[in-house]
Amino acid sequence: MIIAVDGPSGSGKSSTARGVATRLGLQYLDTGAMYRAVTWSALEHGLDLDDLAAVAERARAVQLSISTDPQRAQFAADGVDVTEAIRDPRISSSVSKIATNLDVRAELIRRQRELIEASQPTGGAVVEGRDIATVVWPHAELKLLLTADQEARMARRKAELAEGAVTADQLRDQIVRRDADDSTVSQFQVASDGAVEIDSTRLTLEEVIDVICRLAKE
Ligand code: CDP
Repeated sequence: MIIAVDGPSGSGKSSTARGVATRLGLQYLDTGAMYRAVTWSALEHGLDLDDLAAVAERARAVQLSISTDPQRAQFAADGVDVTEAIRDPRISSSVSKIATNLDVRAELIRRQRELIEASQPTGGAVVEGRDIATVVWPHAELKLLLTADQEARMARRKAELAEGAVTADQLRDQIVRRDADDSTVSQFQVASDGAVEIDSTRLTLEEVIDVICRLAKE
């Protein structure tokens, strides 16, 4: 079984997808982390992110190692553990640019499909991203679109960050600006057939996980 979980920044995708995978004994794939790892590698190599060909070449060359264990988030790029580095604000503010590079998308989508195929003999995976149900794996048995209003998403991001690490204005900028940056990403998406939209604004994490696990068992 493949469960696709798509949604915007701060919608609670990661915690939800990880929680569902843990409960159902499925693997977990964070596709956003792959875009982040390519961004990290491109910056590490001193590339100009506007140089589309060079960045695409980097996406094809970088060796990515991704843990699909929902209890153990771990990513390595070219042998370097980047689990924490890819969450750096420097990466968050550049990743949308990488994600609009069509050749990067083609390469990462190819790798994502390979990882999803590899998960099938063990029962499947919960795959989280922006374009999973629409592009990466349209045949997913369950497709979810997780949303939450901007205020709720900002509050969640703030709770994730260390106290005092960012001001309310910086946070607003992060969420609102990335929504805008990602609206360019969404031009590559088509409406998904049969996706269930879950607005998590007024639901707890456990409630969202419960709803999804129930849908998965139907
Ligand atoms: O921080 P957040 O959970 O919003 O993002 P993420 O899931 O870590 O993804 C980082 C960025 O990668 C997004 O802002 C998108 O620009 C891009 N992305 C994408 O284009 N397609 C995906 N399937 C996943 C992420």
